[in-house]
Amino acid sequence: MPGPPVTAIAHSNIALVKYWGKRPGEDNVPATPSLSITLEALTTRTTVREARADVVRVNGEPVGDTKVAGWLAKMRAAWDLPPLAVSSHNDFPTSAGLASSASGFAALVTAADAAFGLGLDATARSVWARRGSASAARSVFGGFVTLDAEAAWAAAPLLAEDAWPLEVVVAITSDNAKAVPSTVGMERSARTSPFHDGWIRSAAEDYASARQAVKRRDFDLLAEVAEHSCLKMHALMLSTRPPLWYWNEATLAALAVVRELRASGVPVFFTVDAGPQVKAVCAPGHSEPVGAALGRVRGIRRVLRSGLGGGARCVAEPASPS
Ligand code: DP6
Repeated sequence: MPGPPVTAIAHSNIALVKYWGKRPGEDNVPATPSLSITLEALTTRTTVREARADVVRVNGEPVGDTKVAGWLAKMRAAWDLPPLAVSSHNDFPTSAGLASSASGFAALVTAADAAFGLGLDATARSVWARRGSASAARSVFGGFVTLDAEAAWAAAPLLAEDAWPLEVVVAITSDNAKAVPSTVGMERSARTSPFHDGWIRSAAEDYASARQAVKRRDFDLLAEVAEHSCLKMHALMLSTRPPLWYWNEATLAALAVVRELRASGVPVFFTVDAGPQVKAVCAPGHSEPVGAALGRVRGIRRVLRSGLGGGARCVAEPASPS
């Protein structure tokens, strides 16, 4: 008899020290360590149930997502899993640089683990999430999260979400799917950018500084290293051939506003991933004026405000029926 459907949620995360590039081989082993924060307001809810054949739906639409199919094939090499219906809903734009694959794989492995009694602890779920998408390893945990070689490329919690409740304003400049998926872009950067070696070599130092900043709750140090890691990644992307050009005019306008706010004394810094959205990370209690200022920037469609969220977990309420 098939077991009951199981639902899990996971939140998106944004990296403050970025992962961009993989080691040779399978399983998305990053070439650089990364450090992220998990965002409470950006949530994926995924329901897994037995079915006659595998079917994956995202926001109600069937998707022929090869990443999910490849991941399920790896799971089946380890466990005897039945065909699955996976239904996943994001409450934020999918594939627009808001890390839907991160929250997606973290929720999926959490639901599959519970549905089929795989007995995975959070570290093992993180490794399995990484096999889907490396940034997903971090969404298994809440708050401040690290992903590095020391933990064998499983993510690990660094500081709980309530220990330093930073706030984030996400400025959405486009709802369109991104031009070049991360996996493709990383491979292209490694092959063609003259900056790639420098990117890899300098990552450990950024990572060490960011860890120190988080442990000491040093906002200025975290701001400096996070903006540096972000701009260095985009310099790498722009120096790739053909270039990986994720920004639009509103992205640049938003970055200018964040820089002006910080110059005027507001504790805020920016980060941008493989898409045009700007995330403004604010010290506790400062997201309201930052959100208002970004909301007035021409070309910004809307702003979301978020606190830091918890790790992936099972919940009672299923993803909308599909
Ligand atoms: C720019 O985790 O989406 O957001 O492992 O190939 O699935 P794959 O890539 P993905 O890349 C995320 C890149 C980034 C930086 C980061 O999240 O660290």
